[in-house]
Amino acid sequence: MKSAAPPPSSPPLSSSASSPVSPSSPPVSPHISFVDLQPAVGRFLDDVIAGLGASPKALSPKYFYDARGCALFEAICELPEYYPTRTELALMHDCAADMAAQLGEGGLLIEFGSGASVKTEVLLRTLRPAAYVPVDIAADALQASTARLAAGFPQLPIVAVCADYMQPLRVPELDRIKASRRVIYFPGSTIGNLTPAEAQEFLVRARELAGAQGAMLIGVDLKKDPDVLHAAYNDAQGVTAEFNLNLLRRINSELAADFDLDQFRHVAFYNTVAGRIEMHLESLREQTVTVSGRTFVFGAGERMHTENSCKYSVNEFQRLAQAAGFRPAQVWVDAERLFAVHLLEV
Ligand code: AVJ
Repeated sequence: MKSAAPPPSSPPLSSSASSPVSPSSPPVSPHISFVDLQPAVGRFLDDVIAGLGASPKALSPKYFYDARGCALFEAICELPEYYPTRTELALMHDCAADMAAQLGEGGLLIEFGSGASVKTEVLLRTLRPAAYVPVDIAADALQASTARLAAGFPQLPIVAVCADYMQPLRVPELDRIKASRRVIYFPGSTIGNLTPAEAQEFLVRARELAGAQGAMLIGVDLKKDPDVLHAAYNDAQGVTAEFNLNLLRRINSELAADFDLDQFRHVAFYNTVAGRIEMHLESLREQTVTVSGRTFVFGAGERMHTENSCKYSVNEFQRLAQAAGFRPAQVWVDAERLFAVHLLEV
């Protein structure tokens, strides 16, 4: 099925590249600043060329989030089959006061993959941090959510950082902020995009960023009935398929490529052995694709791996966090046991 339109409030479905956050952007309020560590376009091309040259072919899920990809992801979050967002948001509503009590006021709240920062609002109200640092690779989404939060929390200093937080993050600006401790918030189960080995390395870096008194609050999707998982990534309206295929559309428009979107299909399944949803794009026939002058051949039925979404039981994730040097201090799980929010202490 094709083209389910995102809600009308979403950014326009244009295929234009997102405009970069520039340090010269007019500040929304005196409390707001932007730090631009956005990866260069050349990086995107290098990654795509390397991914299409690999065997099996693979593309990184971080490139899903151009303006149209962000709008489609927001639409996914509203789907009846996609339980994670609403379940985690409900957990935040029910448990944010408890979380804040454990974390303490006056900390520096650093959020990875802040996107629209919807869950954050709930946390900000109870946690009352000294400052808030949203970090996201999507410049447009970051600017929009920062402007919205600045209006809702006029006293809160915000340092918005446009960066690929999966890479080591160097933000000297943060050292100048006085706070009782650093708290890293990583909602949405985005850690599931990483393999367990990569996730462990990522957690080690997060622990270092959090520092000696630090903590991490992280949303992690739980293992569950494979049918529930399958439905969440194969929705009836085809929004997830459109989200997956949008990666090819983005490559076409930003990297001078000629993918024929009608000649690829969305494939998503639960890999029981690895405990993860895998998304792929499958070539419907033998075909040749050109990306910035380079040619790649696809066989009929050949798949390109576009995303992993790893699922962890509470114990599995706590063991992973421990291996990364964190102490699992608390976990909140919804009544249906769909989703977990872990508090990890350094
Ligand atoms: C944002 C990575 C958590 O894995 O569920 C949703 C992305 N992909 N539907 C997920 C996604 C397909 C999502 N994460």
